[in-house]
Amino acid sequence: MEKSVTLREVSSILQMTPQGTGKLIKNQESYIKGNARSLPPQTVRGIFEARGFKYPQKNIMFHAVKGGSSKSSLAYNSAYRISQLGARVLIVDLDKQANATRSFELPVFENVFVDLITGKAEIADAIVPVSPFLDILPSSFKNARMELELINKQHNPRHFYQRIFQSVRNNYDIVIFDLPPDLNHNSYLCSIYATTICIPTNPDEYSVSGTKMTLESLEGLKEQYPDLEQEILIVWSKYDARERNSFHYITDASGMGTAKVMPVVIRSDATFKNAQAERKSVFEISKKSNAREDVDILAQELLGLRDFFTITGNT
Ligand SMILES: Nc1ncnc2c1ncn2[C@@H]1O[C@H](COP(=O)(O)OP(=O)(O)O)[C@@H](O)[C@H]1O
Ligand SMILES: [Mg+2]
Repeated sequence: MEKSVTLREVSSILQMTPQGTGKLIKNQESYIKGNARSLPPQTVRGIFEARGFKYPQKNIMFHAVKGGSSKSSLAYNSAYRISQLGARVLIVDLDKQANATRSFELPVFENVFVDLITGKAEIADAIVPVSPFLDILPSSFKNARMELELINKQHNPRHFYQRIFQSVRNNYDIVIFDLPPDLNHNSYLCSIYATTICIPTNPDEYSVSGTKMTLESLEGLKEQYPDLEQEILIVWSKYDARERNSFHYITDASGMGTAKVMPVVIRSDATFKNAQAERKSVFEISKKSNAREDVDILAQELLGLRDFFTITGNT
């Protein structure tokens, strides 16, 4: 299926009428799908850039010590959405369980991140293109050796990820890292390279303490490298209004320090699981769902589209 967003969706981001947005398309590619006009990523990019929006370069790390807190679901679905919105995206799967990788129907692949650490492969040979504007560096059980290989390697932590990614970094606007639920040497190295650390947190005691622990370790990083410029974002996920404690957790900001709580809450929605079972994103399996609405806002926030077109009123 062709990757696209509707003219209506783009209009609502621009806060313009569909007619007005239609005029911006000029002779760029678009097509009719069902009874709606659809715009492929390069057309969306053309429109946003013509309105003055600059696609940022961001390394976004999905990081949380609780398993099942939505890291892979949000990494994968926001990567998909951000690429639909015209950004060139690389998703890097660093979890040996490879849930993000298994969200795609990939051809046979050989190389994963650990092969880049050992020098067995070049990054360009490990990346697999998956859909327009979206590539993946896949993962497999081989990455179980990652920590061992990192111990054996002499390296400067400050530049370790940068060295691995530098030859391909300019091919992308956004690089999204999906991590396993650990605080270890690899998550430390990745967080040095990250410009944005996104911590999915569920409204339960265990997840909230995990997030506080993650935040403490990031504070340690900031002491070690005071010039690191990074934003730390907490995104509440698996929110269910019927659960009594949910609201209590998400309104209690104590212990969250300087982290910014994102202005979107990802609601509990079976669409995530259903989409995953079909190896599709939540944007492909249904036209309307809570999952789709929430990840759309998350993607726009991460890309900076909402700040640009809504808050500062640049339309
Ligand atoms: N907001 C949500 N609502 C309902 N189910 C979700 C939500 N986010 C994730 N899930 C489901 O929860 C399970 C764990 O999510 P996953 O993204 O793999 O977590 P993690 O990567 O943090 O371990 C998956 O089956 C996924 O489909
Ligand atoms: Mg995961």
